[in-house]
Amino acid sequence: MRISDPKLIGAITALGVEHRAGVSMAQKTSLEIGGTSDLLLVRTHESLPELVRLLKQHGVPYRFLGGGSNVLLPDRELPWIILQLARQDPEVRFEGNSVFADCAADLGRTVTTCAKHDLGGMEGLIGVPGTVGGALRMNAGAYGTQIGTFVREVRVYRAAKGQIETLRGSEINFEYRHTSFAPDDIMLTVRLELPSKPYSEILQGIRICNEKRRASQPLNQKSAGCIFKNPPGGSAGRMIDELGLKGHAVGDARVSDRHANFFVNSGHATAADMLALIADVRQRVRERYGVELEEEVIVWKES
Ligand code: EPU
Repeated sequence: MRISDPKLIGAITALGVEHRAGVSMAQKTSLEIGGTSDLLLVRTHESLPELVRLLKQHGVPYRFLGGGSNVLLPDRELPWIILQLARQDPEVRFEGNSVFADCAADLGRTVTTCAKHDLGGMEGLIGVPGTVGGALRMNAGAYGTQIGTFVREVRVYRAAKGQIETLRGSEINFEYRHTSFAPDDIMLTVRLELPSKPYSEILQGIRICNEKRRASQPLNQKSAGCIFKNPPGGSAGRMIDELGLKGHAVGDARVSDRHANFFVNSGHATAADMLALIADVRQRVRERYGVELEEEVIVWKES
């Protein structure tokens, strides 16, 4: 979608928001799939309520994109304007065991910055791609760690109310790859409370997790991580593997040879290819195991 009204563009830029016309969203996602749209880069959180009010007033639909590492966007011209948060400086601030992190910050870099301040607990999250905000939304987890455990406060733009609010950790439900945030909430900053640990010990944990991940996941390929959630008590990766589907492809969308719950873009896959592969694998798992797999990746539907 494009914003063509010069008055609206003027009002948006007057808020300090940068308007970039015709951006290929394939460049903004780890799957490298996605059509084109105008992008609005939000530099100050406080401008969000007025920005959204303006977009609504002009009937311009929008979607918020975080780090782009866990989403599947449609092909061609997108029917929404895309909002993204610019990273704040500093990205991370410390007060004792409290860590105030910017939600646009890279998750992995945040984990290592905390480690350098002798604050641990998040070692398992080291190789999870994406932003702190994306990790919060999905309650990202790996190797026994989930980010929700450490959350004490989140400053969030609540689209339903059109205002910025601070939520206490206890007001938010963090479940397996699911949280009680509304789909249109935009995470801005978070206060985490992390346990003290010597840097060398945290580094050791980080190394172990990195090795495990390298051994089992296709890290140097274009993917959105695991495509399906694990069903209760089961493993989507193992089921897909047992069906002999590693390497199975629709166009350039392909089940990874390394980890069967990673679907990779092996060239120029389209969203249609990826969706067809997801549907095909889901059906085969249903037929063989009687299990309905639920997507872990967030699929942006055009409706
Ligand atoms: N397995 C296979 N074949 C495969 C893949 C896995 O047989 O192709 C087997 C493994 O041998 C293991 C079991 O399935 O016995 C589970 O596999 P793994 O340890 O790789 O973990 P996972 O359940 O597939 C989960 C998360 C990952 C996270 C890892 C490590 C989900 C959907 N996935 O994977 O998160 O990195 O544990 O903690 O919860 C993600 O969220 O995008 C993601 C990749």
